[in-house]
Amino acid sequence: QNNQSLKGKKVIVSAAGTREPIDPVRYISNRSSGKMGYAIATEAASRGAEVVLVSGITNIKAPENVKLIKVESAREMQKHIEEHFADCDITIMSAAVSDYRVKEVASQKIKKSDEVMTIELVKNPDILKGLGEKKSDKQYLVGFAAETQNVEEYAKGKLQRKNLDMIVANDVSQAGAGFNVDTNIAKIITCDGEIKQAPLMQKTELAKLILDTIEEKMNK
Ligand code: C5P
Repeated sequence: QNNQSLKGKKVIVSAAGTREPIDPVRYISNRSSGKMGYAIATEAASRGAEVVLVSGITNIKAPENVKLIKVESAREMQKHIEEHFADCDITIMSAAVSDYRVKEVASQKIKKSDEVMTIELVKNPDILKGLGEKKSDKQYLVGFAAETQNVEEYAKGKLQRKNLDMIVANDVSQAGAGFNVDTNIAKIITCDGEIKQAPLMQKTELAKLILDTIEEKMNK
């Protein structure tokens, strides 16, 4: 699709996993590849949108015609997204944000000592929930939900709790869905109650379906 249907629109996409430091050489992270978010950013740019891609850790190369901001921690990701949010039309949070961070990051490499060691964690801000609280009626906000059970029910709960316009839910326990693969099996649930069940497909194709659905709903 090369119809410039998103020309004049500003789109923020977050992608990949965040990395929370423990000490100068260690961190806590997750298995998110960033493939879904990079596919969405690439597709939005090809439709003419001004795209800001706020990316956690991945080795995917920068898409063309996209402003790429690379971050590590959840709080860094939040800062950059919020900087761009005010005049943004569509925000798609596909990043796997760490729910917790290390309470006190050690300034020196932690030495091995006792048999058992404990690291204290504190909750990270929920970036998406914060955006849901301040978005205007004209701004379209999309979240992702990776579940291993009760996919639809949990996803609908998140859509409401975080005041979203759409949630893309997948069952990460199914083969071919979720983290670190090129394909996904997703349900696209919108705030009007509509549910589109997408079959197993390439993330590049799912990106098109997600953006088609956003455009359809925004143009209503
Ligand atoms: O509640 P849960 O983490 O499953 O919600 C997933 C959605 O919330 C994703 O869109 C993810 O990017 C976003 N999220 C966030 N900040 C967090 C945790 C999740 O923006 N701290």
